Amino acid sequence: MEVEKVFHMNKGEGETSYVTNSSVQKTMILKAKPLVEETIIEFYCKTFPKCLTIADMGCSSGPNSLLVISEIINVVATTCQKLCRPSPEFQVFLNDLPGNDFNTIFKSVPSFYEKLRKDWGNGFGPCLVAGVPGSFYGRLFPQNTLNIVHSSNCLHWLSQVPQEIENNNGSIHLAKTSPPNVFQAYSKQFYKDFTIFLSSRSLEIVLGGRMIIIMLGRRYSDPSTKDCSFYWELLARSLRDMVSKGLIKKAELDSFNLPYYTPNIEEVEKIIQSEGSFNLDWLETFDTDWDNSEDDQNRSDFVYDKIKSGKYVANYIRAVIESIVVSHFGDSIMDDLFSRYAEHVGDHLEKERSKHHSIVICMTKNNNQPSQL
Ligand SMILES: C[S@@+](CC[C@H](N)C(=O)[O-])C[C@H]1O[C@@H](n2cnc3c(N)ncnc32)[C@H](O)[C@@H]1O
Repeated sequence: MEVEKVFHMNKGEGETSYVTNSSVQKTMILKAKPLVEETIIEFYCKTFPKCLTIADMGCSSGPNSLLVISEIINVVATTCQKLCRPSPEFQVFLNDLPGNDFNTIFKSVPSFYEKLRKDWGNGFGPCLVAGVPGSFYGRLFPQNTLNIVHSSNCLHWLSQVPQEIENNNGSIHLAKTSPPNVFQAYSKQFYKDFTIFLSSRSLEIVLGGRMIIIMLGRRYSDPSTKDCSFYWELLARSLRDMVSKGLIKKAELDSFNLPYYTPNIEEVEKIIQSEGSFNLDWLETFDTDWDNSEDDQNRSDFVYDKIKSGKYVANYIRAVIESIVVSHFGDSIMDDLFSRYAEHVGDHLEKERSKHHSIVICMTKNNNQPSQL
């Protein structure tokens, strides 16, 4: 599977689209908001750039990317008002893979501009948005051009499925039954990808510029614990059901693995340190319920409506990975697969309320040369 050619969130604004099914990612972005704001104020008050250049890596097609950009712009505008300074101009780059539905996000840019004008008046900005198609595991911008880089819910996606994991039979990711070489291959691939990401951005970000990353991670060092990406084990279970019913071939399942890895904080710190061109300012973690839609969350250890919760989680997982699953199994099994998946998720959440674990990292570009590229 050529991940960078195949992978995209579900397009458009329909029932199965990322636009309609990205509120769990929005919750994560909102949880990190105070940290992002603090970083932006600190950077802005140190440098007062005439033009603030911001890049969102892995913007996708949904509303979350422009939500982040407005958070950043609003905090700068408020700071300018407090300090009686003129507003800077804002150059915003929205990056994603070439298969991303840029049209849908571009359609929302005029109303985004209109809102900024309404909130901050005509003397503000301007803010200019541009799209940048390409993989963030490589260069995307000229040297020393970016002030702020942001990326949410992307860097747990690898550039490729790790090699030599053909023996990961019956699983689609790291599972209790996965052989040791599979664990090593996944962690090695993450090491390689995250290092290239840092080195690429290191050339593009100005000295003292900031990078804020929100990504899924894992609480424990053992990647096979149930805590880590158990939603993939439930998807594998749904695929195994379909193998047993003769709806897909066992060999098809055995040869399918996800390009996905959730690191723990020690791994992330180690890679930032060994790559060397960013100082780690802070690193925090937080949890978000798989079903973040329930108002009563955290009041009990299980969900009240397993059918509703199962469907909700299955819909947002489908919006993210359908392109990858279709590229391997074809599109005829999708409705059946995700309705089985919704059932498995519901059964699981009825017994325990699982949580996603997010890592938020803030780094400052130092004057070391990148170790890669
Ligand atoms: C779950 S979406 C997150 C979208 C948005 N940032 C948010 O928080 O809602 C992950 C995005 O990362 C993008 N992505 C994955 N690998 C990428 C790569 N190598 N280069 C650029 N974008 C990538 C995907 O195409 C997808 O749009």
